[in-house]
Amino acid sequence: MAFERMCALSEVPEDGSLQVQLPDIDVAVVRFEGELYALEDRCSHADVPLTEGDVDEVDGAPTIECALHGSCFDLRTGEPTNLPATEPVPVYPVRVEGDDVLVDVEAPIAVAST
Ligand code: FES
Repeated sequence: MAFERMCALSEVPEDGSLQVQLPDIDVAVVRFEGELYALEDRCSHADVPLTEGDVDEVDGAPTIECALHGSCFDLRTGEPTNLPATEPVPVYPVRVEGDDVLVDVEAPIAVAST
């Protein structure tokens, strides 16, 4: 486990997202209704940053919507809730220490397939 600092908590908008660029990947740090989430900032349908889309609830799930074609991704699992995307995006463990948001991008959360 290698949590590393992504940003300050105060930089992440309420019910919004912030892109953090790492050497190998871009990470979307998302805040929705007081909860923090982290996922790869790249739609699984095409190479589009998810942070360009809206954060909202869809059928009871916290999601981020791809701005290009409208697939929404469950922030807890990375699974798309609607087409055209069919593959999940990686989600990462996130925690807060003081005003620092820490994410472990080396340990994507394993999601059981349904
Ligand atoms: S690029 Fe995201 S749904 Fe098509």
